[in-house]
Amino acid sequence: MNLFPTYKRFPINIVSGKGTVVTDENGKDYLDFVSGIAVCNLGHCPENVKQAVEDQMEKIWHVSNLYQLPEQEEAASWLTRFTELDHVFFCNSGAEANEAAIKLARKYTGKEKIYSFKQSFHGRTFATMSATGQEKIQQGYGTLLPTFEYLPYNDPEAVNNLTDENTAAIMVEVIQGEGGVIPGSSEFLQAVQKKCEQLNCLLIIDEVQTGIGRTGYPFAYQHHHLDPDIVTSAKGLGSGFPVGAMLGKSKLKASFSAGAHGTTFGGNPLATAAVTATLNTIFNDSFLKGVRDKGAAFKQTLETKLAPFDLVETIRGQGLMIGIVLKEAAMPLLQKLQELGLMTVLAGPNVIRLLPPLTVTESELNQASELLETAIKQYQDSLYSQTTGSKK
Ligand SMILES: Cc1ncc(COP(=O)(O)O)c(C=O)c1O
Repeated sequence: MNLFPTYKRFPINIVSGKGTVVTDENGKDYLDFVSGIAVCNLGHCPENVKQAVEDQMEKIWHVSNLYQLPEQEEAASWLTRFTELDHVFFCNSGAEANEAAIKLARKYTGKEKIYSFKQSFHGRTFATMSATGQEKIQQGYGTLLPTFEYLPYNDPEAVNNLTDENTAAIMVEVIQGEGGVIPGSSEFLQAVQKKCEQLNCLLIIDEVQTGIGRTGYPFAYQHHHLDPDIVTSAKGLGSGFPVGAMLGKSKLKASFSAGAHGTTFGGNPLATAAVTATLNTIFNDSFLKGVRDKGAAFKQTLETKLAPFDLVETIRGQGLMIGIVLKEAAMPLLQKLQELGLMTVLAGPNVIRLLPPLTVTESELNQASELLETAIKQYQDSLYSQTTGSKK
């Protein structure tokens, strides 16, 4: 094997996909509630994105950022029209979007400290790994960037107590994704917003996982009426075409002047054709309402069907980003679900994360909830004695 073993891979070889369904090399179908980890928000191989990329492929693939890029301007106009942000810097991934955000916050404010939160995830470059509040991500890499500190998540008091005037930014996820699908409370998020105003620092919202319609709004901060200075995006932005973006307020424009930052590939015509076709579908009131409605109904169904199981601690999330929190390790359940034909992804050791395409149908959601019920029952029965409810 010639790859670095950086991933612990499942023994499944997916060879095709359409909509919510993927098929492995043996012809077995799965309902894909991973979506490439919140990437394939329009399902697999969506026709309009495919067409847009194919059309662009006929014209030109790559043009350097040294030249005019009307496709990039168009993609940026979608992002700014549906947010309160004014300018966009395109890159290739979530980590790069956050890296740009960290650089811009330090340059604009002339300050260095960045506060983020425990069990956050912001990426694996040096700066974004330093911003990530998880030791397991940082171990073995020596000294991290020294100007990052982590506060407890969902603790407005801890935020209120901040007094450090050398703060360039507070960086936060509206729902912690990798950290366990933990929704930030409105009170907590408002405290973060207020503290940024008090300390005269920037509010950076990492929407790499929660953005692009995942929670039923273009970006999840819009549920809470926050006013971020910077928002970062990637994952669902290109429907599977690798692309990221950092969005910022107009006051930040002069700090990212010519030569201040850059990338070879970021926002090339193929990538931004995929972005425009994606946003053109998702940033639409009735599509987004559909996500909110489907998400609320699905969560309700899961609560009715699954919450009564001893094994299930709670179900949380928003829109089509849902976590089933177990009292035991979640991996055996994930594997059982795979056998039954439902793909899910962990968010920490005890949480099964559900990230179906936003185009998922009601009948697919019903099928998934039935498979979850079956698998949880089997897993629980294997763990606990059925009569006493006590652990075997
Ligand atoms: C909230 C958040 N930020 C940043 C990242 C990093 O994105 P990427 O893997 O594209 O670098 C992720 C990836 O899971 C994420 O969930």
